[in-house]
Amino acid sequence: MIPDSFKQELLHRVDIVGVIERYVPLKKGGANYLACCPFHTEKTPSFTVSPTKQFYHCFGCGAHGNAISFLIEYQGLGYVEAVRDLAESVGMKMPEFEPRTKKPEGGPDLYEIMERAGNYYREQLKGTPRAIEYLKGRGLTGKIAARFGIGYAPDGWQNLESVFPSYADKALKDVGLVIDPEGGGRRYDRFRDRIIFPILDQRGSVIAFGGRVLGEGEPKYLNSPETPLFEKGRELYGLAQARSAIRAAGRVIVVEGYMDVVALAQHGVEYAVATLGTATSATHVQKLLRQTDEVVFCFDGDAAGRKAAWHALEVSLPHLADNKAMRFLFLPPEHDPDSYVREKGKEAFEKMLETTRPLSEFFVEELMGRVELKTYEGRAQLVHEAKPLLKQISARTLQRQLIQMIAATGYLDQGHAAQLTEELTHTRLAARPSGLDRGAQAPELRLVRNLLQCLISNPALARELSAELLDQGSLEARALVAVTEFCRENPEVEGNIVVDHFQGTEFRNLLESGQAALLDTKLETEHMEVDFRGALERLRDKRRKQRFEALRVKQDRSPEEETEMLRLLRERNQVPASPSNNAIISGSRSTP
Ligand code: UTP
Ligand code: MN
Repeated sequence: MIPDSFKQELLHRVDIVGVIERYVPLKKGGANYLACCPFHTEKTPSFTVSPTKQFYHCFGCGAHGNAISFLIEYQGLGYVEAVRDLAESVGMKMPEFEPRTKKPEGGPDLYEIMERAGNYYREQLKGTPRAIEYLKGRGLTGKIAARFGIGYAPDGWQNLESVFPSYADKALKDVGLVIDPEGGGRRYDRFRDRIIFPILDQRGSVIAFGGRVLGEGEPKYLNSPETPLFEKGRELYGLAQARSAIRAAGRVIVVEGYMDVVALAQHGVEYAVATLGTATSATHVQKLLRQTDEVVFCFDGDAAGRKAAWHALEVSLPHLADNKAMRFLFLPPEHDPDSYVREKGKEAFEKMLETTRPLSEFFVEELMGRVELKTYEGRAQLVHEAKPLLKQISARTLQRQLIQMIAATGYLDQGHAAQLTEELTHTRLAARPSGLDRGAQAPELRLVRNLLQCLISNPALARELSAELLDQGSLEARALVAVTEFCRENPEVEGNIVVDHFQGTEFRNLLESGQAALLDTKLETEHMEVDFRGALERLRDKRRKQRFEALRVKQDRSPEEETEMLRLLRERNQVPASPSNNAIISGSRSTP
């Protein structure tokens, strides 16, 4: 992890206007800069950059972030790369941080070991006609084999002995190149008489290998185990090689196997990556969505393929955005991408890509297929099964559309459909446990949102907020509590880092729109403080009122409770009734 303090310093030194202007022409409009959004197609500019608050926000598609996120989204850089890029541009030295791969202090360089093994396997391929013939037989040229660094691990038990100075080195075991037999005995090479596919990380370093038998044999593929360098379920085979093609094509295809990626590249479809036999993970999806707007999952047409596709859909739901598309392509049952592209060629494959099914369609069809739609029970079950999934969809517009679709398919009447939408989109507070003060729900939510905005604008205000004031039922209130805690633990933190910190949490949208609302306000920092305190006081007042009401309706009050009531009454009367404060969201200004 790159320390927040470094990120903050970096975001201070770079000017987001300058960073974005390198790629997108900006026009001054009032206090902010405007452009047509680079993340979706539009004719009138709704992409706004705030030079004072150092973030961008698109009112059209919701794209939002700081200078670092801009480079990630726009250039398809990895997080670390983006930070490094910016740091270099302002002459800051990257901090020494643990890249997630734990390299022991002063210990051997595990990356170098893998690199050396990879070079060895590549060399061995050149001298092994049988292995070359195998690859040729699968339609690969030397050029593609080189692009993917394909190699060959010769037969024999201790070939790596000649490659490394010490075959007994613990590090060889740590990276999974050798195996120590249980119960002692001589250590031996993991990969023997196999075609070797190196797996690279985003920076292009070798972190693992996959080895295929030449012809028939079990297991067909042998892979590196999990090691300090290689965490299964995070990596995507071929991503390093595919990156620029993904940018150019505007999409990425996700397939299952090594050979699918390589064969597609051989036929000119260079924007494919593989999950390597593991299920698609949320990390995979997030990684891909950072690179491109369209992800096509390409699975076999059989039951296993559909199951894998459904799983990919489920993990994708919390990461969808209205400007991103996820699609599903089911191949004819007798094919995988490798065999399909070899038999039919690039054009046919790409043509098939044009007819892929959008996530929404697959979602609805699959759910409908699971129930008996002819019966009331079946329709009720449809809604029941869809609910937890719909709730997770992070793309607001798509979410509403799908809710409507499911409601219609389940024959819900309008009122019920509206209720479902409300329930699933957190637009209002869930029903409160007590019947007290019902009418005040919406204003309270507004207060909480105001407080959240003030905090994003000025995190130091977190000192003044106490969690007891909040009824933690709503997403907003939980967000406020989480943000308050984070700001208290990091007293120097600034708004941009706060928003950044909660990326990938359920609070993300809320914080981003809270920060975006700051674009509209002309309020200065001192006003922000006044507003914050005003909102806080109103919240306190609300709590007093509720408490008073609870005591008032109580049957037999204790003397202490009587005293408390008096105190509450006194405190309430001391509070100046001031409706003039805390109108931060434009439009929420209360009329006198
Ligand atoms: P498949 O069985 O579909 O193989 O496994 P494939 O990719 O079509 O391989 P070829 O065309 O016969 O060479 C898909 C992926 O699952 C993983 C591999 O990553 C493979 O590419 N796998 C499969 C293993 O890790 N081990 C195995 O034994 C089999
Ligand atoms: Mn295959």
